[in-house]
Amino acid sequence: MARVTTSTFRDLKRTGEKIAVLTAYDYPTAALLDEAGLDAILVGDSLGMAIMGGRDTLSVTMDDMVHHTRMVSRAARHALIIADMPFLSYQVNAEEALRNAGRLVSEAGAQAVKLEGGVNKFGDAIAVILRAGIPVMGHIGLTPQSVHQIGGYKVQGRDDEARQRLKEEALGLQEAGCFSIVLECMPPGLAAEITQTLTIPTIGIGAGVDCDGQVLVLHDILGWGETRFCKTYADVRGAMSGAFRSYVNEVKHHQFPTEEHTYP
Ligand code: KIV
Repeated sequence: MARVTTSTFRDLKRTGEKIAVLTAYDYPTAALLDEAGLDAILVGDSLGMAIMGGRDTLSVTMDDMVHHTRMVSRAARHALIIADMPFLSYQVNAEEALRNAGRLVSEAGAQAVKLEGGVNKFGDAIAVILRAGIPVMGHIGLTPQSVHQIGGYKVQGRDDEARQRLKEEALGLQEAGCFSIVLECMPPGLAAEITQTLTIPTIGIGAGVDCDGQVLVLHDILGWGETRFCKTYADVRGAMSGAFRSYVNEVKHHQFPTEEHTYP
């Protein structure tokens, strides 16, 4: 299978083939996702919650993102690797944003970076990263790095003013040169309207079926998370928990190791 690039994303939108994206944070999981045919793997700053046990994504550092992106990018042969820019890695100024985006590419092997918010706030950062040749994915709607300002993890774009603002943000990100935009947690009708207006693909999470693609947090689809809109595809939590309990039980009762699992 050929390597997915940002132009593949554009082609997929043009042909109407949906784009499948999941998050990953480590080598063996990323290898499985890659083999399964995911178009892109997002090393999300959801790392802070899914892996690091935080209550939000705000404590994730650049070093955390470089560490985990490196593991994921080593595994990928097909999927496009997109790394999230964590909180305060692009908000301070454009120069820091470029240096940090550069680390995700040169030290960690990402092929693109994602950052949250519109051009009105981060246009300078986006421009300077793009100028250096690093593709940028936008992210609007529910932007978890602004959770305290938003007042919780809730659906965005409910009134006319908010809807208009989101439409303008999406167009602004496209005009700024983003290759794709994540639409998180917004009414499906609004996401559909944005998707039809844009020439770049939208990737939805909690934004309905009409986006050009979908992204979910890996732990949610495996039955580890607790999101209402998320479909669970496997009870991995149950399978792992069962295996751990069996192991404890067998060790305690002298059933493991047997001769078969002992060096002669
Ligand atoms: O951090 C993340 O995993 C994300 C997705 C939820 C889009 O940004």
